[in-house]
Amino acid sequence: MNINIERTKAPKQKPSSDNLGFGNYFSDHMFIMDYTHGKGWHDARIVPYGNFEMSPANMALHYGQSVFEGLKAYKTKDGRILLFRPEKNMERLNITNDRMCIPSFDSDLILDAIEKLVNIDKDWIPEGEGTALYIRPFIFANDPFLGVRPALTYKFMIILCPVGAYYPEGVNPIKIYVEPKYVRAVRGGVGCAKTSGNYAASLKAQKEAKEKQYTQVLWLDGIERKYVEEVGTMNVFFKIGDQVVTPELSGSILPGITRASTIELLKHWGIDVVERKISIQEVFEANASGLLKEVFGTGTAAVISPVGELNWDGNIITVNKGKTGELSQRIYDEITGIQNGVIEDRFGWTVEL
Ligand code: COI
Repeated sequence: MNINIERTKAPKQKPSSDNLGFGNYFSDHMFIMDYTHGKGWHDARIVPYGNFEMSPANMALHYGQSVFEGLKAYKTKDGRILLFRPEKNMERLNITNDRMCIPSFDSDLILDAIEKLVNIDKDWIPEGEGTALYIRPFIFANDPFLGVRPALTYKFMIILCPVGAYYPEGVNPIKIYVEPKYVRAVRGGVGCAKTSGNYAASLKAQKEAKEKQYTQVLWLDGIERKYVEEVGTMNVFFKIGDQVVTPELSGSILPGITRASTIELLKHWGIDVVERKISIQEVFEANASGLLKEVFGTGTAAVISPVGELNWDGNIITVNKGKTGELSQRIYDEITGIQNGVIEDRFGWTVEL
């Protein structure tokens, strides 16, 4: 399929790299493609970024048939543009689509669309330390219809957003509240899919945690409320003694691409890493016996985020004296080094535009 390109006649002022935050600014262009039952995906195009019209009966607004991905483009010191494992995002989006009854798409076409869009808006890639151009592909049902069924029409869009650190703490350790009351997902549900409703369902817990001065919540499993699942916007790892443990992908956890890369990296370094069930009790007991060395989260937006404090039912532990651990820092340096093209990419993870 050909991608039509219409360039903006009114480029916007770009924000300074110093204070971008996350999700505040959008580049000059966006990608759109439509799906119609019986016709498939059609009319792929890049157009000036802007608002668009939608029926008040739009099915995605009412029933949440809406999915997304997140990846980043980086500008290297010598001016190259790198993407980090974009094919993995395409793979995961098609798996999410399948779970949410959204028709699959051709990954190569969307990878081509991302390349074209990022190239057109390449001056929007920020160059400051810890910054990148966040790429947000998303798909939503577009039928004006109020019956509950999979839609017959969809829109696939991609927008670009220059970003800095996701958390206000930057790369400093964050405080996490272990959520006792609400659950994020159960096996057989949609916890492993990147669908909008998962994030809507997390808001109340996140709001209550914020009121207690915690940055994010740590979700426990939805049945026994015992086993660690993930943190609001990232997967989680524990360094216990010399071993690194991360919850296994049980069907209710998001299969993170930074998570998978971290596991590969640890194995490459010869560090013992296991994916298994880990209870919150085990984490607190490991801390009591002096074995809990580090806790960190992984995610595209969050990158590698050290955790400095955990609060479980009023029991508060400080991890690694509230400081970034040696291993968390090493993983952060390696992954961001590969992403920014300053460390050789031995794994073939980056794609140069
Ligand atoms: C990402 O890390 O790309 C995510 O999708 C998290 C997002 C909800 C901010």
